Amino acid sequence: MINQSQIQAWLQDWAIQIVDNKDYLSDLDNAIGDGDHGFNMAKGFSAYQEVRATKEVPNIGEEFKLLAMTLLSKVGGASGPLYSSAFLAMAKESSDKSEVSPLELADLFELGLEAIMKRGKAVPFDKTMIDCWKPAIEALRANELTIEKVDEIVEATAPMKALKGRASYLGDRSIGHIDPGSSSSGLMFKSLIKEVGL
Ligand SMILES: Nc1ncnc2c1ncn2[C@@H]1O[C@H](COP(=O)(O)OP(=O)(O)OP(=O)(O)O)[C@@H](O)[C@H]1O
Ligand SMILES: [Mg+2]
Repeated sequence: MINQSQIQAWLQDWAIQIVDNKDYLSDLDNAIGDGDHGFNMAKGFSAYQEVRATKEVPNIGEEFKLLAMTLLSKVGGASGPLYSSAFLAMAKESSDKSEVSPLELADLFELGLEAIMKRGKAVPFDKTMIDCWKPAIEALRANELTIEKVDEIVEATAPMKALKGRASYLGDRSIGHIDPGSSSSGLMFKSLIKEVGL
């Protein structure tokens, strides 16, 4: 089972990775977007680190909700509301939980993915964060989620042509570049592997 302090350690490590990789994420977004993804995300995750340090959080659902609300208020661009709706959907189904199994966590991620798809109206292979979440959840279910697998998933977005978001304005010129949102989601799954020891 995965307990609340492991969930907290995971989200904390993701926050650290986002802040550490701020320039890299913005460089990815510079190639096919407006170059603000790292800045957007680091702003939200710095705020999250501050807020979390001053709060008593009673359960896993509240951990997800606190992250969601902070990202919603601090992250501009498309990614803030998308990550926020994912974690809000995950929070709804985990309120009062103090532990979850890896399969329950996969179910929660699935709800998060559905929320992203509903909110952003994108589908698999549009070259968005969906192209990280979907295969990573499948790998988690199959007990095959590893750091190498996550890197593979993120890199597999490079040959895709963007059909949603700002990158889609580039048409064929979006091909050959990793999707920034998939990269920040990749950091999320890698922190999970590291901190939860999947
Ligand atoms: N409709 C969507 N559904 C899912 N993910 C999306 C969608 N639109 C954009 N994204 C994700 O958001 C990332 C860009 O986030 P960013 O923080 O840079 O916001 P932005 O500059 O407003 O983006 P964009 O203009 O691409 O929507 C993309 O790399 C992609 O993964
Ligand atoms: Mg951007």
